[in-house]
Amino acid sequence: MKKLKGIIFDLDGVITDSAEYHYVAWKNLANNLGIDIDRKFNEKLKGISREDSLERILEYGKVLNDYSDDEKSRLAEQKNEEYLKLIKQMTADDLLPGIYNLLTDAKAKGIKLALASASKNGPFILERLGIEKLFDTIVDPSILSAGKPDPEIFIRAVQQLDLSPEECIGIEDAEAGVKAINAANIFSIGVGSSDVLHEANYCLTNTSKLKLDNILEQFESTMF
Ligand code: BG6
Ligand code: MG
Repeated sequence: MKKLKGIIFDLDGVITDSAEYHYVAWKNLANNLGIDIDRKFNEKLKGISREDSLERILEYGKVLNDYSDDEKSRLAEQKNEEYLKLIKQMTADDLLPGIYNLLTDAKAKGIKLALASASKNGPFILERLGIEKLFDTIVDPSILSAGKPDPEIFIRAVQQLDLSPEECIGIEDAEAGVKAINAANIFSIGVGSSDVLHEANYCLTNTSKLKLDNILEQFESTMF
């Protein structure tokens, strides 16, 4: 029988609701630039790096060519400053339902844990949530040559865990993230709307349904 040896987590929108804070900070920045973004558009920003998110917003507002690289760096920095103000107050209470149990149940079974987030604020958030010691490894997004949906971040996570893709699962809330997990040949779990995450091997509406027994059953029974 297949044996699960590693779980690779996305952060924003899976471990904690920081995806909402990213949205608030981007929406404010976009509004200041005269661009209106909504939640539907925001789905296309999930899992995407800070720099690429800004490009997508400027493109959406048809003003991509109006800003120099320096101006774009300043705008990205400005968004991050607002985002940091929002996440600074985070505590263990901000873990999404079911996540702490999943992490500790997995640890108790000897399953290794990795973080594969596009966010450069990942280590800071894990610390705020008090769960940094549960993770065996964190992929540094600043060394990646391609972001999600490219599989690189998940391939690196598998390597850092010293495992193979068939021994792992990846958990994501973003369309780009599910595509990245699938492209890395890892069993994918999508958390959120099945309209957005229909490519996942297994889709759950919210994190409270992420129970280890349930996950193991799905993983073990799926031909992969
Ligand atoms: C991803 C989020 O996890 O991280 C994106 O889904 C975000 O919305 C990206 O843009 C980069 O995050 P940060 O914290 O480095 O700006
Ligand atoms: Mg996410």
